[in-house]
Formats: sequence, C-alpha cells, structure tokens
Amino acid sequence: MHSVAIIGASGYAGQETLDRVVGHPGFEVVALGSDSLAGSGASALDVRLNGSLPRFVPNEEALASGADLTFLCLGHERAAALEPSADGVVVDLSGAHRLADPALYPAWYGFEHPRPEELAGWTYGLPEVSPPVGRLVANPGCYATAAILALAPLAGAIESGSVVVDAKSGVSGAGRELKPGSHAGFVLENVSPYRVGSHQHAPEIAGALGYPVCFVPHLLPVRRGLIATCYAQIDGDARDLIEAAYAGSAAVRVLPEGVAPELSRVQHTDGAEIGVYDERATARPVIVCALDNLGKGAAGQAVQNANLALDLDETLGLKLTGVPV
Ligand SMILES: NC(=O)c1ccc[n+]([C@@H]2O[C@H](COP(=O)([O-])OP(=O)(O)OC[C@H]3O[C@@H](n4cnc5c(N)ncnc54)[C@H](OP(=O)(O)O)[C@@H]3O)[C@@H](O)[C@H]2O)c1
Repeated sequence: MHSVAIIGASGYAGQETLDRVVGHPGFEVVALGSDSLAGSGASALDVRLNGSLPRFVPNEEALASGADLTFLCLGHERAAALEPSADGVVVDLSGAHRLADPALYPAWYGFEHPRPEELAGWTYGLPEVSPPVGRLVANPGCYATAAILALAPLAGAIESGSVVVDAKSGVSGAGRELKPGSHAGFVLENVSPYRVGSHQHAPEIAGALGYPVCFVPHLLPVRRGLIATCYAQIDGDARDLIEAAYAGSAAVRVLPEGVAPELSRVQHTDGAEIGVYDERATARPVIVCALDNLGKGAAGQAVQNANLALDLDETLGLKLTGVPV
C-alpha cells in the first residue's frame, strides 16, 4: 500500500481526490490536511466518511507526514508558497506549477511566484498527451485538459492562428469557497462568459500546444461538467488523427459520427468524450470535448498521474465504467 496525504482536503478538488483515494486498492490515507477543519474528524467534511480516516490536521502538518504520495488541493497562491515534501510523489491540482516561465505568474495568476527557481523541477502531466516524468507533477487545469485533448492530436496539421476554444463549465469549477460569481442568484437560469482574454488556462493551453488559442470560458448553471467546442482550420482528416491518438486510451472516448458529447455521460466520471464534426459551410472541423471538471479535469486526472508516477495501472481508483443515467 502507498500512504497518501491530501493537502486542502476540505475543498471540492480535495474532497473528490479523497473520494478516489478511498476507493483505490493500493492507497491508504495517512494525513488529511485542512486549516479550517484542523482538529475535526473526517465526518466534519461529509457525514458519509466514517471513523477509519484520520482526523484533519493543519495543511503544513499533513505535508510533513512523510507520505509516499501527496496531493496538493489548495488555491494557486497557497500551493505555490508550500515547500513540497522532500521525498515521494507530489501531484499539485492547482496552477502553481503548471507554467514553466515564472514571469507569466503575475499577469495570469495575479501573484509573483515565490519559488520561481523550482518550477523547472515539475512536469506537466496530461497522461494521454504528456505523461508525467519524475516525482513532482503539475496536474492540468480543467478547461486546459479539454482543449488539449481535443487539439493535441492535430499538431502538424492545424493552422495555428485559426483556433478558437469556446468552453463552458459548471459552477463547481469555481470551488467551494463562496464568491459573488458563484452565488445562486447569479448562476441559476443564466449563462455568461467570464475572464475573456485573461483566464489563467490560456497560457497553459498555449504552452502545451505550442501556439496560443482564442479561449472564451463561460459559466453554466449546472453543478459539474465542462464542454469545450474547438474550431480550427486543418490540413488533414481530424477524425482520423483524433481516433488514432486515443485508440488505446482507457479515459478518452472518441464518439462515432452522429453521436454528440454530453455532460450527463461524463459527470461523476474520470473519462472524457470527444466528438468530431465537419462543418460544411466553412469547411472546417469542429472538435468537442466533454469532461467532468472535478473528474478528468481535476481529481481523476490527479490519481491517473499518481498511478503513472508510481508505476501502477493508470486506471486504478478511477471512475471509468458504468452506465448511470
Ligand atoms: N473545482 C474544480 O473544478 C477544479 C478543477 C481543477 C483544478 N482545481 C484547482 O484545485 C485547487 C482547489 O480548488 P477547489 O475547487 O477545491 O477550491 P475550494 O473548494 O474553494 O477549496 C480550496 C481551499 O479553500 C478552503 N475552503 C474549503 N471550503 C471553504 C469554504 N467554504 N470557505 C472558505 N474556504 C474554504 C480549503 O482550505 P482550508 O480548509 O485549508 O482553509 C480548501 O482546500 C485550485 O487551485 C483549483 O484551481 C479545481
């Protein structure tokens, strides 16, 4: 068994990570970190958690637990400030270690990176496109995962200046902490774009694809799930390239022609769906990727990365089967 510490276990990403770790046959929770719940039993987070889990401790104490595997599930700036444990695998679900160039942090994340010299030690782990190398893994953002899964197979065929990513996410993407933009009075029966031209996933997508895209995120009045519709000019057959890229993938399903990706099929799962269309009027392919922002977009992918970093079957602990309505 591999011992696991979860830092920031009380947030949405932390709770979903805990959910996957509890169901993982090779993982055992040894430390649950939360500054707000320190001293409380695990059931303070959710009454479904029973007495077999350790009590919450402050995040710094959980980080020092000596676990074989540590998940960082904190906000970007809090995660950037932490000294990662000296040994073991660390998977950071925040954006604190996703960008190789520290100079990008003030503009896109709003803070100077406190440990700029350490960014080079982290790898950006998107298992189907760039599997993790080494023990420090930066887990991709939810929107970035969908855009990169849709577009990476088209490398070499794509007209890079032509790419538009129109993406929409459920409100859990904003986290458990209450913000004016996630208040029910604003979200329900409403759809709106936000952070157009300034969303922090834009440089992440550009870094992974090698070219910038026009990225427009929107907030949907649903709890979870994300859909990214990508428009591009390409020289080649998009369906052939995408089917070939994911033929052996357990987590990414390319749908047959005529079947549309749907939030309802990916919600509560760690898989992604991709649909490929030919838009006849302007002769361009449209590629649509749907995933759960908390699954393949966060906790599921983090566990997939951890499995790979520990040389385990990458699907252990993931929610990839079943046909719930
Ligand atoms: N949500 C997603 O879909 C998603 C997807 C991909 C990546 N991520 C990334 O994962 C990281 C954590 O995101 P998140 O969505 O889990 O954020 P969150 O729910 O807001 O939780 C973040 C931290 O805030 C504190 N917190 C929890 N509940 C709170 C509350 N009710 N009021 C105030 N603070 C509270 C917790 O730390 P303490 O208990 O220690 O104070 C928690 O670890 C972020 O870097 C985010 O970008 C999130």
